[in-house]
Amino acid sequence: MIRTQLTLRVNDREHEIWVRNDRTLLDVLHDDLGMPDVRYGCAEGVCGTCTVLLDGDPVSACSMYAVQAEGHEVMTLRGWSDPRDEPHPLQKRFLERGAAQCGFCTAGVLLTAATLAQRNPAASREEIRHELVGNLCRCTGYQAIVDAVEDYLHTPAERTAEMGGAQ
Ligand code: FES
Ligand code: FES
Repeated sequence: MIRTQLTLRVNDREHEIWVRNDRTLLDVLHDDLGMPDVRYGCAEGVCGTCTVLLDGDPVSACSMYAVQAEGHEVMTLRGWSDPRDEPHPLQKRFLERGAAQCGFCTAGVLLTAATLAQRNPAASREEIRHELVGNLCRCTGYQAIVDAVEDYLHTPAERTAEMGGAQ
C-alpha cells in the first residue's frame, strides 16, 4: 500500500507523519497520534463516536482518509475544550442534566451540539434532535442530552462569554 507524507493540523498543532493511504483519519488520530478523545465505535460512519470538527464542521473521522484532511483544520474534543481548563459551559450543562453516563458518545455529541449552537442558536428541541441524529447514545435515551443542549442554547450569555474552539 502506498504511503504518503502528510502535514496534519490538529488542535492548532502541526504533525508531520507518514501514513498508508488507506488509513482513516480516525486511525491516525487515535492510533498514530494517540488521541483517545477520538473513539472507535462502528467504524462505518453510523455512530458518531469518532466525530471531529473539520474546518469547523462535524465529520465522522472513520469515514474519511487521513490524506483527505491535509490542508484542513482538525479539532478534537480536547482542542475544543482543554481538560486542564474550566469545563466548557456546554459540558457543565451536560453535568447538570446527567447527559453523560458512560461517556462513550459524549465527545461526539458535544462537538456536534457546539456547531449547532453557532449555526442555529434558536434551534427547537426537534432541531436539536435532528442535528444529533448521527450521534448514537446507548445510555441516556437522549432526553437529558437534548435538555442540556437546550439549556445551553437558551443561555446566550454563556455562548458569547465562552470563546471555546467551536465558538
Ligand atoms: S466510529 Fe465513526 S461513525 Fe462510528
Ligand atoms: S452516555 Fe453512554 S453511550 Fe451515551
